[in-house]
Amino acid sequence: MTSADTKTRVARTPIKTIKVRARDEDFRIVQVHGTLLVCSKAHGNCCCGWTEKGRAPVNTALYSEEWERRKIRNKVHLSFTGCLGPCAVGNNALLQIFGQSIWFKDLNGDQYVPLIYDYIESMLEAGHALPPPENLADHVYARYLPAPSGDTLTIGAAVEEDDDGLERLDPVCLMDVDPATARWTSEYGGRTFYFCSPGCKKSFERNPQEYLEEVGLGEACGIDLKAG
Ligand code: FES
Repeated sequence: MTSADTKTRVARTPIKTIKVRARDEDFRIVQVHGTLLVCSKAHGNCCCGWTEKGRAPVNTALYSEEWERRKIRNKVHLSFTGCLGPCAVGNNALLQIFGQSIWFKDLNGDQYVPLIYDYIESMLEAGHALPPPENLADHVYARYLPAPSGDTLTIGAAVEEDDDGLERLDPVCLMDVDPATARWTSEYGGRTFYFCSPGCKKSFERNPQEYLEEVGLGEACGIDLKAG
């Protein structure tokens, strides 16, 4: 397979859900390539972003805006967290992607936020982890001990393929919503969509095509988005 093929394959990877059992119920979870965890004062940390302690502020709004703008929320999850551990070298973030853990430090300014997302998007296009670009190389380090050579382990139960997960997916927040108990619904393109809240329903109805395109649900649900 050529790199162009790989790029196309990842860009067109359809959204996929799996069944996960909890509290004696089946839930549908969207599978993603990774998660970006950003250490945040607003979420209970102790050092990163604390200007009172001489640290640079962390612009969580910019992380969220860039994440939304790039329409990658169905591929990489964004989460703000309490202390990630290495407070001394903050401001810190941890990216888990394609099975790799990539630690960032010294993210002392807004200019690093788009660089991190550029890096994430380049890996999503490549379909695998890549070394950091030059402009981030000094901000990346290996915090975790390497696994002993040849020592790989599959952790977690095998996932169960899911045939009707896309039917139940809130296209705004990607939450699993049970059609039997859904309180908020909307008709579009000849099918019913279910929402976890009135806020998601309202957002969807403002621009259904944009949401369906963003998460790749239009094609998956047999809706011709070009037809409107
Ligand atoms: S406060 Fe950010 S790593 Fe500890």
